[in-house]
Amino acid sequence: MPNAIVFGATSGIGKQLATMLVNDGFKVAITGRSLDLLNLIKDTNPRSFTVMENDVQIISQTETVFQELVKKFKTIDLIIHSSGVGYENPELQWEKEKDTILTNVLGATRIYDLAFNLFKKQGFGHLAAISSIASLRGNRESPAYFASKAFQVNYLESMYFKSKEIKDGKVYITDIRPGFVDTKMALGDGIFWMSSLEKASRQIYKAIKHKKRKVYISKRWNLIAWVLKIVPSWLMKKVM
Ligand SMILES: NC(=O)c1ccc[n+]([C@@H]2O[C@H](COP(=O)([O-])OP(=O)(O)OC[C@H]3O[C@@H](n4cnc5c(N)ncnc54)[C@H](OP(=O)(O)O)[C@@H]3O)[C@@H](O)[C@H]2O)c1
Repeated sequence: MPNAIVFGATSGIGKQLATMLVNDGFKVAITGRSLDLLNLIKDTNPRSFTVMENDVQIISQTETVFQELVKKFKTIDLIIHSSGVGYENPELQWEKEKDTILTNVLGATRIYDLAFNLFKKQGFGHLAAISSIASLRGNRESPAYFASKAFQVNYLESMYFKSKEIKDGKVYITDIRPGFVDTKMALGDGIFWMSSLEKASRQIYKAIKHKKRKVYISKRWNLIAWVLKIVPSWLMKKVM
């Protein structure tokens, strides 16, 4: 039976993917800050879910949780990193910028590194991380969020390059870049091209199964990504 860990499984995309994995026969460790929410998920299939409380900003705690799960499972086939925060922060309130950096940059980096080093030792494994279409450009409302996603995308590409160090190994890195998905993170009504959580999770799960290098969710965001990559900054400044 394959084993997986989902970081950031209390809600949204992480929760949905964890449930899909269990339905597919995985043993899944779900982590997050709220034990109550994690236990509610575990109640749906107590034999397949393992619950671990973890705040990804507390690096020593992430390391302990990770080592305990490696000890329990022996080998881990798939690690999904879905934890993340994002704020609209036009006033640049420091607490919001800091929270974003500590979660999306510091916390994420430690998880990517732990996963990569484990997979290197095992000779196999798959890291799938949820970054964002936001990785492609800057943004005046949410500077830390957009920059943190650019960091994630580049770090994941580095992990992909590093995977060639693993001789004969089967290590895969998947960078998942959603547009808007209907979760508690996507605040506001009438958001442009918002995907339902179910539709987005289905497409993400398919990309993970096919071990894609990177994918935009939903598919139509490929077009936006193409535009975002070619529009000059002066034009972005005018229209955004
Ligand atoms: N929804 C979108 O439109 C969208 C678009 C592009 C990318 N994304 C990315 O998708 C990922 C998942 O977000 P979502 O849309 O599913 O939103 P969500 O429902 O808010 O899920 C975010 C998850 O991250 C966890 N988390 C936040 N801070 C944490 C911390 N310090 N330690 C541990 N866990 C923490 C949350 O757990 P708590 O219960 O502890 O808060 C929750 O499980 C994020 O990385 C987000 O940036 C989302």
